[in-house]
Amino acid sequence: MRAPAFSRRRAVQALGLAGLAGTRVPAAPAARVTIRLSHVVARRTPKGLALEHFAERVRSLSQGEIQVAIYPNSLLYGDEDEMQALQLGAVDMLAPSLSKFGPIGFPEFELFDLPFLFDAGEQVQHTKQGAVGQELLALLARQRLVGLGYLDNGFKHMSANRALRAPEDFVGLRVRIQSSRVIAHQMRALGARPVVLPFGETHRALAARVVDGTENPVSNFWTQRMHEAQSDLSLTSHGYLGYCLVVHQRFWEHLAAADRALIEQALAEALAWGNAIAQRENDQALAALRASGATRIHELDAVQRQRLRHATRGVHEALAARIGAEWIRRMRGAAAGTRQG
Ligand code: LMR
Repeated sequence: MRAPAFSRRRAVQALGLAGLAGTRVPAAPAARVTIRLSHVVARRTPKGLALEHFAERVRSLSQGEIQVAIYPNSLLYGDEDEMQALQLGAVDMLAPSLSKFGPIGFPEFELFDLPFLFDAGEQVQHTKQGAVGQELLALLARQRLVGLGYLDNGFKHMSANRALRAPEDFVGLRVRIQSSRVIAHQMRALGARPVVLPFGETHRALAARVVDGTENPVSNFWTQRMHEAQSDLSLTSHGYLGYCLVVHQRFWEHLAAADRALIEQALAEALAWGNAIAQRENDQALAALRASGATRIHELDAVQRQRLRHATRGVHEALAARIGAEWIRRMRGAAAGTRQG
C-alpha cells in the first residue's frame, strides 16, 4: 500500500496506536487478500460491531484466505480524508454515514437527513430496501463507487448544556454537525449555528466549548464520552443516522468473482445482523448513560416534537429545490410505506 502524502503521518501514527487500542491490524500473513476497512466510530457501536461481524464471517467463509483489517475510531482516516483515501486506493472499504455523501457529489443521500421524515425503524427499512434506497446506491457509480448495502445506527437526539425541547431553546447555540447541507439547514431553522466538524474531533470541541451542542444516536454519544462535556440530552428522535458500505470499482473489479461473491455473502449476513442489534445497542447505551448519572435525559412529548417538526418543515422544500421535488415525493412515499412512484 502506498498511502497518499496527505495521510502518511496519520497512517503511521494510527498503525503505531493500533496495537495499544486493541485494533484488528493485518495479522495473518497467510491471507491471500486483505481488505482495509476504515471507520470513525468506537468498536462498541452498531457500526463497529457489525463490521467486526463482517470480518469474522469473511475469515470463516474463506478459511482465513481473505481477511478484513479494521481501523476504527478515526485511527487511520477521519471524516475529512476517508473518501479521498478510498478514491486513491489507500483504503479499500468504508462505512460513512449517509450524510457524508452530499459533499462528494451525492446530495440525494441527504434525503435520509430530512428532519422528522421517519417515525419508526420499519419505515427506514422499507425505504432502504425499496426502489428509492436501491436507486440511491446505484447513483454512486457516477464516481466509480459501488454501494454494497445499508447499515443502521438509529435515531438521533440533541444534546447541549441545557434541555432542548422547543425551538427557542436552540437559539444562539453553536452545534456540531456532519457535513450535510440538510442538517445545517435544520439547525439554522431552529435558530442554532451549525458548525461542521469531523466526528473524531467532536468530543474535544465540546469539551473546549468550541461548540455548545451536537446530535447523534445515544450509542455514539456514549462511546465518544460526550456526556463528559454535555449536561443534557434531549430525546428528540428528530432524524435518522445510517451508513452505506462502499468500495471503489477499481478494487471491486480487481477481485476474483468467487471472492466478490464470498464478500457479498459475508456482508449481507453482517448487515442483517448489524441492523438487528442496532436498536439494542442504542438502548443499552441509554441505560448506561442513565446509570452513570452524568447527563440529564429529557423525554419530549408529542406536542414538543410537533413544534420542532413544524419549525424545520422548510428544510424539505429547500432540498427539493436542490435535487428535485420528485425525489422528496418518492422518499416521503417510501417512508410512509406507500407506492414509490
Ligand atoms: C457523525 O459524524 O456524527 C457520525 O456520522 C459518525 C458515525 O459514523 O456514526
